[in-house]
Formats: sequence, structure tokens, C-alpha cells
Amino acid sequence: MQLHRLSDLGGVRVDGVDLTARRTPEEDRALMTLFNQHGLVVFSDQKLTKRQLVEAGAPFGGTMSNVPVPAADPEAVGLSVLSNRGADGNLVPGDPDRMYGAAGWHTDQGYVAAPNRGKILYGVQVPEEGGMTGFIDGQSTYAALSEDLRSRVEGLHVIQSWDHMRPEASDERKYRQDGEKELTRGRFVDVVYPIVYPHPITGTKVLNFPPMWAARIAEVPGPEGEALARALVEHITQQKFQYWHRYRLGDAVLWDNWRFLHAASGTPGRYARTVWSVALRSSPELGRALQTAAE
Ligand SMILES: [Fe+2]
Repeated sequence: MQLHRLSDLGGVRVDGVDLTARRTPEEDRALMTLFNQHGLVVFSDQKLTKRQLVEAGAPFGGTMSNVPVPAADPEAVGLSVLSNRGADGNLVPGDPDRMYGAAGWHTDQGYVAAPNRGKILYGVQVPEEGGMTGFIDGQSTYAALSEDLRSRVEGLHVIQSWDHMRPEASDERKYRQDGEKELTRGRFVDVVYPIVYPHPITGTKVLNFPPMWAARIAEVPGPEGEALARALVEHITQQKFQYWHRYRLGDAVLWDNWRFLHAASGTPGRYARTVWSVALRSSPELGRALQTAAE
């Protein structure tokens, strides 16, 4: 197994590991340690069937199917297919010059109390242009906070809301075929998360303010809270914290959803792009559900 840094921002590419190979418990633990340490791990040159991708989640805690609608692929329960091509190979919805599938910075399932541990995205059809996944490490953005911001966010909480996601924040919904009818407003009750939390496994502090879900700061109402929220988003989304992964065919990209934000660059319609994804099982509740508003 050879490790190479993905960029100066961290994350590693792993060559020489076949995720379908039989492993000893020690080898599984070594993979989990690698995941916990780096949080972003790209396994090169994989050749996976759908079922093998689901099974590849085993050393990292196993997979779950609820992302955010139960993924029920007939070949592999728990797997989601994201593609800008329909089953007949035609472009959906069909403009070669438009970008499809762009999504802003978010955590997965940041609108529930116990979000998935992470995800594996597997590049099945890799476009010549676009199709990238962006990553921002919440440990790095926390470590780089100014003294002033760090002291101001200490002990504060963010209200994370499914309904905060504007339709333009993601156009995935326009062409994903699994359960799009269920991706409606009001589907999830708002949750409250600490803005800074220790990573449940490593204990390293993570700055948590996912722009897609962060509706407001619980303890700071009005313009002061809005200004603080803007300052946090500006800090977190600086170019210098962004790593954009350009897929090679067969890349299986694993990341820690308790630590990283991610985003999608989108793909020009003229290129086919298909990824399969599985979500890793959640365990601790990072947030807690708020009561529904009194009716
Ligand atoms: Fe996502």
C-alpha cells in the first residue's frame, strides 16, 4: 500500500489496495485508522460491482441506506446512482453546454441529528471536464480561525435546516431518479448543532457551519447573528481551504462527513458522468432535533 498526499491541504491517495480483497481484522483496523487520521482517502484503480461497493464500506463501520431517501437500487440496497445520463444513455435533461449536478458546500444529512459517518463515491463514468467533488476540512478551518472569531463562536450553536436549502443550491434533484418526490420542503424538523465540536473519534476540534443548512445562530439573534454567520461562511469557504478532486476512472473517494464539507462542481451536459455512492452508518448524535413549532 502506497500513500501519496492529495494536496497541501491533506487527504491521501492510496495505491495498491483492492477493496474487494479478503482482509484480516488487523488490515481492516489499519484502513479505519487511515480513515480516522486523514478523513479523505482516495483508493485508486478499483473495479467494483455495486454490491462490492456496498461491501467496501464494511471496514469503515458499514453502510446505511437512508441518504436522504432510502436508496433501494435493485442490485444493491443502500447504493445511490448519480448520473447525468438516463438508463438509455441519453443525456438528461439534454443541454450540452449547461452544467449539471452542481451543489454548494454541505455536510451530508446535516439536517438530522445523527448524520452519516461518511461516504464513498465511486467514479464509474468520468467526464473530461468537471465532475469534481470539492472538500473543506473542518479541522483546518477551525485551526485557522482568528482569535476573535474563535472566542466569539465558543459555546454557540447553529440551527441546521433542510428548508434552508434553496432550490438553486443544488440541481441534483432535477435529474436524480430515486425518490425525488420526497425531497420537498418541511420534510425534516430543524436540528441544532454545536458550531465547534470535538471529533467523536479523534477528539480534534471541528468547525461546523455548513452553508447549505446553516439557517442561523441559536444564541445570537438579529443582524449581529447574521453578520457572525456571514463571517463564518466567508472564512470557511476561502479558496485556500478548498481541495477539488478530479476523478480518475476507478477512484473510490472516501471522506469523513463529521469533519469535511463537500460540494460538487457540476458537469457540462456534453459529457457523461456517473458515480455510485454509499453512505457510512452514523452513530453519535452530533446535533439534536428541535421541537416542531407550536401550531
Ligand atoms: Fe453530498
